Amino acid sequence: MSTPVTSNPAQEESTVDHSKIKVSPEEMEAYDQSGRKPVLLGFFIAVVWLLIGTVLGDLSSFKFDRPDLLTEQAYLTFGRIRPAHLNVMVYGWASTAMFSVSLWLMPRLCRTPLRWGNLAVIGILVWTVGLGVGIALLLAGHGDGLEWLELDRQWADPLLVIGAAMVGASVWKTLAARNVHHLYVSIWYVAASYPWFLIIFLAGNMPFYKGVESAAVNWFYAHNALGLWLTTINLGLIYYLLPKIIGRPIYSYWLSLVGFWGLALFYALNGMHHLIGGPLPSWMIATSITASIMMIVPVVAVGINQHMTVVGRFGAMRYSPALTLAVIAAMSYTAVSLQGILTALVSVNRITHFTHWTIAHSHLGLYMFVTLSLFGGMYYILPRVLKKEWPSRRLVRAHILLVGGGMVLYIVALGIGGVLQGLSLLAPGEGFEASVSSAKPWLLLRSVSAVIISAGHLVFAYHAYLLAFTSRNSLTRHPPFYELKPVLVKKRVP
Ligand code: HEM
Ligand code: HEM
Repeated sequence: MSTPVTSNPAQEESTVDHSKIKVSPEEMEAYDQSGRKPVLLGFFIAVVWLLIGTVLGDLSSFKFDRPDLLTEQAYLTFGRIRPAHLNVMVYGWASTAMFSVSLWLMPRLCRTPLRWGNLAVIGILVWTVGLGVGIALLLAGHGDGLEWLELDRQWADPLLVIGAAMVGASVWKTLAARNVHHLYVSIWYVAASYPWFLIIFLAGNMPFYKGVESAAVNWFYAHNALGLWLTTINLGLIYYLLPKIIGRPIYSYWLSLVGFWGLALFYALNGMHHLIGGPLPSWMIATSITASIMMIVPVVAVGINQHMTVVGRFGAMRYSPALTLAVIAAMSYTAVSLQGILTALVSVNRITHFTHWTIAHSHLGLYMFVTLSLFGGMYYILPRVLKKEWPSRRLVRAHILLVGGGMVLYIVALGIGGVLQGLSLLAPGEGFEASVSSAKPWLLLRSVSAVIISAGHLVFAYHAYLLAFTSRNSLTRHPPFYELKPVLVKKRVP
């Protein structure tokens, strides 16, 4: 009888040793099972939000091609649908899936069962209720009017803070109970993200900023939500998946240190590059541009470290969807950061600011890096928690091809359309209408890509449903993936 993929932790543990402590497969399974409830709950809620966010994203995109589409009801207008898309995707899909990733990673890396798991369950529920209330109010016309901070300050935000604090408490309690001396790099990223997120979210939502001060704090928050929350947990996940799946330790501990501390040091100073050309003191803008350029240090350190870990074994991607997605996500992190550094230069920002270029950059970061990393994490984590394998290799392929291909089309289309739009806006003889016309065909192409990506999301949701609800035996009889063992591990472990 063939061996299900999910029963391979013994092989994994014999090849990768993050903490110099050997762990039996039974022990590893116990760590995975200790967080079963919150991990599954978080992933389930995240997929529901992903589908809702997809409808909102599609609708926002179609409205660029047909501005008169669904405008009769106020809650369906662009001004409400677009921020709802942003908030659903960032706080509903990505953040909730990141809760699950954190709660699964910490027990494994700290070699101890998850602590305060029930608190984490309540935390995820409180967060979800807060977000639901916030989105409903946003669609009803009650938003705070600050990008990334639109959720209602009075009714939604307190629930988000309490929810994240509860999940964070479980993460930190598990860290405190660790049975390892050495803290693997993923632990630094995951554990640090919780206090960082709570501090910036509370700071961003304080009600007493006025005028330009409010804009500065707004972008301090939004940029750090990207860098010290969405980026960090996903870098932690990728740092775990790459060496684990290919069975070789991370290339350099020192580069990991440079990557982590470089990010912690420079990212927080980046925020004002969103307001280049705005009415802020020039030292603030200059500092943010300098810090953006300095980001080259951690970005290149992480890029080299992750590339050198995988180099020579890229062929292994054929056997593991989690590895494929983690590799694409890691490369996208380097790409989006280099694009971002370029965009922060005044000469480039003059052209690209207020154009679709920024939307291409956003989705290169939040989709090709963050979302693909989370899909990769789910491909790896769910079989281990549910103790059964994904049922269909074909559905996995279809999902990866649809979302990957669709998003490349999205980014290329808006990248080109954005530059044309920017050049047209700056051309002295051309009116505003000309800039709109120049971008139109590229926006239509984006809507085509939106349909392709949405099909990919439906495939993924259907496959996850099959995984969760199909009986275990019928799945494990024909395991679709052997991960990397047949090609990479010479000695077969019984
Ligand atoms: C089906 C996939 C998706 C489609 C069709 C889509 C579409 C869109 C559209 C049409 C906009 C408005 C653009 C504008 O105002 O010019 C937008 C903005 C945005 N989307 Fe998406 N999106 C998708 C997936 C995602 C995901 C998964 C995330 C996050 C994890 C995300 C995060 C954002 C953010 C943060 C913005 C605001 C960007 C900015 O202001 O620069 N999107 N999206
Ligand atoms: C070194 C790293 C990075 C730099 C220097 C950078 C730079 C920039 C700049 C200058 C803008 C503003 C563009 C404008 O409005 O004219 C921007 C926007 C944005 N960046 Fe980055 N970026 C970096 C990494 C990332 C990463 C890793 C992500 C995603 C995880 C990301 C996501 C975004 C998003 C979503 C926006 C749009 C925000 C909005 O308008 O709503 N960036 N970035």
